Amino acid sequence: VNVILLGPPGAGKGTQAKKLVDDRGMVQLSTGDMLREAKTSGSEMGLRVAAVMDRGELVTDEIVIGLIREKLSGASGGGFIFDGFPRTLPQADALADLLAQMGQGLDAVIEMQVDDAALVSRITGRYTCGNCGQVYHDQTRPTTQPGICDACGSTNLKRRADDTEEALRQRLMEYYKKTSPLVGYYYAKKQLAQVDGLAEMDAVSAAIAKVLDSGR
Ligand code: AP5
Ligand code: ZN
Repeated sequence: VNVILLGPPGAGKGTQAKKLVDDRGMVQLSTGDMLREAKTSGSEMGLRVAAVMDRGELVTDEIVIGLIREKLSGASGGGFIFDGFPRTLPQADALADLLAQMGQGLDAVIEMQVDDAALVSRITGRYTCGNCGQVYHDQTRPTTQPGICDACGSTNLKRRADDTEEALRQRLMEYYKKTSPLVGYYYAKKQLAQVDGLAEMDAVSAAIAKVLDSGR
């Protein structure tokens, strides 16, 4: 199955994507992770997007569609989790075309519903493993041992440059303006399912599993 996880910053897309990778061997395609990698590597594109990302604005469709096209062209089979992509209507159309070219389609689009008030503490408390990408939170999901990733043992735990209240406000504005129209777009295609993203992590995982297993 190929699935999109849709939701505002902090909704839990990355957390649940990682879980699907572990539980089902699916392949996570996070444009945010790809862009952050480009930023860290110091590539020309990475340098170009760095300031835009740190402000919380969206990178151009051209760049992210190019990243996804590249990943899909090297892929065999399916089982993709699209995490943070698509984020605009042109990106959604491009994804449909790319999957069609592979003889594949989307099986579900899962909107993770949360309210803005919960997002501030989720975002400002977040840290991730720079080695394996595991996502943690100061209060709701700390590492078992301080400073050491549970999943891979790395001590390279990091906070994101755009995880400030100010950048979050911008990211939310971008979400409501440019990304939230995708909810109606996929609803009209009868591909939309909604889960309560404010529930506990395991409950959210269970709700997502139910959608995937119902064969939508
Ligand atoms: P991206 O990396 O995609 O960030 P985002 O959409 O803002 O989403 P986040 O990663 O912040 O949140 P999440 O939903 O994954 O939450 P998480 O699981 O970490 O994008 C970053 C930037 O890149 C964009 O601003 C843009 O500039 C650019 N970009 C990326 N894709 C693009 C595209 N397609 N087009 C254009 N530009 C693009 O959870 C958050 C925290 O909450 C964690 O600490 C976690 O432990 C905790 N948590 C999770 N679930 C729960 C729960 N159920 N209960 C309690 N705590 C929880
Ligand atoms: Zn790790």
